[in-house]
Amino acid sequence: MDTLPPNLTINGSRLWQSLMEMAQIGATPKGGVCRIALTDLDKQGRDLFVRWCREAGCTITIDRIGNIFARRAGRDDSLAPVLTGSHLDTQPTGGKFDGVYGVLAGLEVIRSLNDLNYETDAPVEVAVWTNEEGTRFAPSMVASGVFAGEFDLDYGLSRADLDGKTMGEELARIGYAGDAPVGGRPLTAYFEAHIEQGPILEAEGKTIGVVTDAQGQRWYEITLTGQEAHAGPTPMERRKDALLGAARVVEAVNRIGLKHQPGACATVGLMQIHPNSRNVIPGRVFFTVDFRHPDDAVLAAMDAELRAEVARIAADTKLESELEQIFYYAPVRFEESCVAAVRRGVERTGHSARDMVSGAGHDACYVAKVTPTAMVFIPCVDGISHNEIEHTTPEWAAAGCEVLLHAVLEKASVSAGSSR
Ligand code: GLV
Ligand code: MN
Ligand code: MN
Repeated sequence: MDTLPPNLTINGSRLWQSLMEMAQIGATPKGGVCRIALTDLDKQGRDLFVRWCREAGCTITIDRIGNIFARRAGRDDSLAPVLTGSHLDTQPTGGKFDGVYGVLAGLEVIRSLNDLNYETDAPVEVAVWTNEEGTRFAPSMVASGVFAGEFDLDYGLSRADLDGKTMGEELARIGYAGDAPVGGRPLTAYFEAHIEQGPILEAEGKTIGVVTDAQGQRWYEITLTGQEAHAGPTPMERRKDALLGAARVVEAVNRIGLKHQPGACATVGLMQIHPNSRNVIPGRVFFTVDFRHPDDAVLAAMDAELRAEVARIAADTKLESELEQIFYYAPVRFEESCVAAVRRGVERTGHSARDMVSGAGHDACYVAKVTPTAMVFIPCVDGISHNEIEHTTPEWAAAGCEVLLHAVLEKASVSAGSSR
């Protein structure tokens, strides 16, 4: 690759300051962030990001599903860009770093290149992917999924929240329904920096996770239907209690997760009880299941077990059951030359590192389908994420950003990676 400037580094305190400033938007009393996809707060976060990118000399493109791309021109602007980024939306009880770290680490790469007056061969772009979390609009990663051709645009725009509002309507309302086509353009590579969201790096005293794989996922929606009835006069043996059935399925989901150790994760995270009145036997319960495993065959076995358990429990509790798998992706292996670029970044910066499999889903899992991709993880304190106390340190944040800078520069150099 080109000769790298001897003072190749990023500005860790500027990165930290930007993280803290972005964390004000949707700040919660417990120190976290609630900035749910396509709300007014999401708009404010996007606006701030766009302003910072314009100030850094980038041009902004917004596609039809609201993905934002901030571009720093390359020496040869006809080369396919090197992309980095992540998401700005959060969980309802989210933290300051999940997603936003990868976005602002990308911005810090651009700001640092500006400081160094360093012109890359290929352009560098920072992406903000719409609705990564999937908490308001299921499934997660839907907009990077459309970008990668995994979902139709109409499917993405028609995803609705529990109040029936669609992504398309909400994008238009907050002014982020862009007009650029979604995906379908050449890229040289994609790198996503993220907090680990698990305990391994911190426990082993390592600063960087070189992410080689991401585990597969299956998401389900299940409705159990019984009969509403009075909580007083209805004898126990006559009841068709949908919540009793749901409780047994929750137990079965946990059992399936425990059976497939090591590696399986099994969660019921959302439940709606109808009519949700303390003296009415619940007539209908809607709930979700999230299954994950690094091995697709095990994930398929978990699927079969869930279906059998739901049928058995519904029969036992005299309920009707509906089960729909709404989201599936197979385990992902990240591309060798991008993983190697991250490893070289680790060597050049001298940080300690280990290989890792991502437990969480990331936009990188879909983008990997259309361009060579890898990820950089940094530790988070006690492995806690999707929680307001989620925390990392300024030193870890800076270290991951330095590694990201090296990986991006390697792929943005004609001699080492960028393509038309
Ligand atoms: C996204 O945060 C996921 O892994 O579910
Ligand atoms: Mn995330
Ligand atoms: Mn998340």
